[in-house]
Amino acid sequence: MSIIDFEARAAAAAAPPPAPLVSLRDVHLAFGQTEVLKGIDVEVRRGQAVSIIGPSGSGKSTILRCVTGLLRPQRGEIEVDGLRVDELRTETELIRLRRRVGFVFQQYNLFPHLSVLQNLVISPVKVGGEPRAQAEARARELLAKVRMEHKENAYPGELSGGQQQRVAIARALALQPELILFDEVTSALDPEMVGEVLTVIRDLVQDGLTCMLVTHEMRFAEEVSDTVYFTEAGRIVESGPPSRLFGAPASGRTRAFLQRSSGEPAARKASDPIQNYLRIDPLRLAV
Ligand SMILES: Nc1ncnc2c1ncn2[C@@H]1O[C@H](COP(=O)(O)OP(=O)(O)O)[C@@H](O)[C@H]1O
Ligand SMILES: [Mg+2]
Repeated sequence: MSIIDFEARAAAAAAPPPAPLVSLRDVHLAFGQTEVLKGIDVEVRRGQAVSIIGPSGSGKSTILRCVTGLLRPQRGEIEVDGLRVDELRTETELIRLRRRVGFVFQQYNLFPHLSVLQNLVISPVKVGGEPRAQAEARARELLAKVRMEHKENAYPGELSGGQQQRVAIARALALQPELILFDEVTSALDPEMVGEVLTVIRDLVQDGLTCMLVTHEMRFAEEVSDTVYFTEAGRIVESGPPSRLFGAPASGRTRAFLQRSSGEPAARKASDPIQNYLRIDPLRLAV
């Protein structure tokens, strides 16, 4: 090793770690009198997959909505790539944020009157001002990534739930976001389709996608995550590498939850009002 190499390495070793892409610090949020988040701290570094697990109603979706700016906490700070999300005020600022943060839900929310390809092209062209040919070329690459290239001319109604969800993931990627939030994306699927969607997410994580995942698929969370957070009643009970959190949880509450959830299929849930809000206008969306 030359002296120059040595010095470069020493400097790199001494440099502070890069700032997290996403950070939530002491986030508190209440709906009326109901406290839903009671001091949440989460960090996601670029290229990491971070999972949030925990019982229904513990605040997992609320955390993700705070990251997109859909919900504003009463206290605490949320940063995405240096941008203070909790301080954004105007619709224009929020739309700009949502182009950088993709969101995929349990419901696929594809536009039923558009073909698969056009579902991927509409936002980059209409919101991003991208030339159509360029947006179509990238849409085809993304469809290949989610193994749906053979269905570019199909309409959502002609696809299975698993296929629609894979297209929804590709559509979230079409605006080239810096991170994607996955909120229980397999919970509404028939069991035989869960695997194909998880495979697609696993591939994307291996390619270096930064993401936050809320999931009931414990084995999947264990396999793909860099860090897992366990939430209960609006608090992070514990977090850590999956081998530790699943293998040797520090809290009895985590242990009890993991025991309860092993082998249980995810509960199906009714659609939720925020999803309906998001469905309204493609031009408002980053998804
Ligand atoms: N828009 C809302 N208005 C009032 N209460 C809400 C709203 N959204 C969520 N909640 C409540 O906040 C709590 C956390 O919800 P949520 O974040 O959806 O939990 P999880 O995703 O972990 O199941 C629940 O008790 C839920 O009923
Ligand atoms: Mg939820």
